[in-house]
Amino acid sequence: MQLVLLGPPGAGKGTQARRLARKLGVPRVTTGDMLRGHVKEGTDLGAQARSYMARGDLVPDDLVVEMVRQRLEADDCRDGFLLDGFPRTEVQARVLDDLGPPDLVLYLDVPGDEIVRRLAGRRVCQGCQAVYHLEHDPPRRPGVCDRCGGTLEQREDDREEVVRERVRRYREQTEPLVARYRRRSLLREVEGTGGIEVVARRLDAVLRAEGLVPG
Ligand code: AP5
Repeated sequence: MQLVLLGPPGAGKGTQARRLARKLGVPRVTTGDMLRGHVKEGTDLGAQARSYMARGDLVPDDLVVEMVRQRLEADDCRDGFLLDGFPRTEVQARVLDDLGPPDLVLYLDVPGDEIVRRLAGRRVCQGCQAVYHLEHDPPRRPGVCDRCGGTLEQREDDREEVVRERVRRYREQTEPLVARYRRRSLLREVEGTGGIEVVARRLDAVLRAEGLVPG
């Protein structure tokens, strides 16, 4: 089962992908988290990716493609995976077709003003990377992760001017993939507005309709 979650920044891809991957028993492969991991560890790839990410640009295809190729070759991806944040360009989509075309592309969409609200309120645990939202999914104690007690911080690229650039890049380079997958009848559109549980139920309904989880 090879699934892709597609959608603009802040659409809720990561929030839903964590739950879906558990439910489906496949690994979640998230290029944003992988790249942030490289930056944190100070690898060569991290050093090259850092400035692109900080200004809201996409990291060049050749860097991302090699990272994903290696990840999808790992044993735990043999029976399937859930991609979150990849592909993001035509080049990446062609590479994915060579590695193993998706069985289904779940497209979560939310309007622009909601994107800004969601990203402005997002806080991420510096310990376990758990994601919260100040209004929609707050931690029990302000600034402290419920799961590991780590400190919650705003992502560097969630500042408003960087968010605007990320959305621009998304519209230019990633949104055209919607038409690509629609033409191939692989696209399932799921409204991303409403609470986290509401969106989760919509996604579950699609998976049931596709026979990917029991009815
Ligand atoms: P990445 O980390 O992938 O960022 P993104 O795609 O912009 O997505 P986000 O993580 O911002 O949002 P999300 O959709 O996962 O939303 P979330 O669930 O957190 O990429 C970062 C950077 O890395 C890129 O800019 C680029 O530089 C680089 N990069 C990554 N992949 C690349 C690639 N393939 N090629 C080139 N460069 C690449 O939710 C957001 C907030 O909303 C949270 O606070 C959450 O609690 C809240 N929320 C979620 N759902 C709901 C809901 N239904 N109602 C209310 N609040 C909600």
